[in-house]
Amino acid sequence: MGIETSCDETGVAIYDTERGILADQLYSQVEMHAEFGGVVPELASRDHIRKLLPLVDLALKEANCSAKDLDAVAYTYGPGLVGALLVGSTLASTLAWTWGIPAIPVHHMEGHMLAPMLEEEAPNFPFVALLVSGGHTQLVDVLGVGQYKLLGESLDDAAGEAFDKTAKLLKLGYPGGPSVARASERGQADRFRFPRPMTDRPGLDFSFSGLKTHTMTLANSQRDESGNIDDQTVFDIAAGFQEAVVDTLLIKCRRALEQTGHKQLILAGGVAANVRLREKLAIEAEKKGWVLHYPRPEFCTDNGAMIAYVGSLRAESALREQINSYEIEVVPRFPIDQLTAVETVS
Ligand code: KG4
Ligand code: ZN
Repeated sequence: MGIETSCDETGVAIYDTERGILADQLYSQVEMHAEFGGVVPELASRDHIRKLLPLVDLALKEANCSAKDLDAVAYTYGPGLVGALLVGSTLASTLAWTWGIPAIPVHHMEGHMLAPMLEEEAPNFPFVALLVSGGHTQLVDVLGVGQYKLLGESLDDAAGEAFDKTAKLLKLGYPGGPSVARASERGQADRFRFPRPMTDRPGLDFSFSGLKTHTMTLANSQRDESGNIDDQTVFDIAAGFQEAVVDTLLIKCRRALEQTGHKQLILAGGVAANVRLREKLAIEAEKKGWVLHYPRPEFCTDNGAMIAYVGSLRAESALREQINSYEIEVVPRFPIDQLTAVETVS
């Protein structure tokens, strides 16, 4: 069983190493946070408390099994909101202890990164991963399970965060990524000029805060006397902003693949659901002969399935190394390249 509670989605899934995903239950808190224009941590923790146990029951029903059929309970122990993480960690450890099976802590970003493995055409190691979520923008050289070399990351805002802030600025609603993407479909991306940050110098790091300031200055210059921006201009700003983020990500992915010599690129995290990003990366992949992998849309954003899957990969080594102690531990910040490697039989 995999339990995810790091932010504003409560996810519980059951994964079988032979039969695949047997249950996948998700409750999104999006509506509750929408009123505030962003995630309110304390409300998130309380809602996880309300929803988690009923979702565990639903997952067992969906998989048509009972607790005694489970081999381990995996849960996200970081990075994420500390209160939200504590709910998942406490319940997962308690259930595992009660059921007499191991509790396995899983790194949230490793979950995102290996989620494409759940698809029929799974990638093979090694590959480059572009992790783009609300809290992270990272390029990782993935050599095997737990063998991750950080190639570059955002020095300030994450790509998803930039989408969320732009949506707020343009009053497009929460969550920002999907609403900016929808507005962009009706906009003209080349009406305004947007920078492609940090692409004119070498390296694989990102920075999105300058783009955010640029978008804010542009939006403010388009306001009428009452402070409003006409709809078409909002759509054009959204489209120009989205194109700038997508181009920036694409340029850095191209560099990462050239630098590592890998031929596979995997795209993961909430922003990986962005259709324009997928489209432009697919064109580039075709041109360069790379293979592009990404999870189905519901496994791009937070879910329990990716945690159950990584839990299954780590179960054996966690047991061997006696990592499991039912200790209720969470790590709000945790670099992915500090994880331990797992030997897998290919
Ligand atoms: O991975 P995720 O569900 O949660 C975190 O681990 O952060 O990612 C959420 C982020 C949010 O910033 C959201 O605005 C963004 O992913 N997102 C998108 C799209 N769908 C979700 N960004 C751009 N385009 C989308 N279609
Ligand atoms: Zn996430």
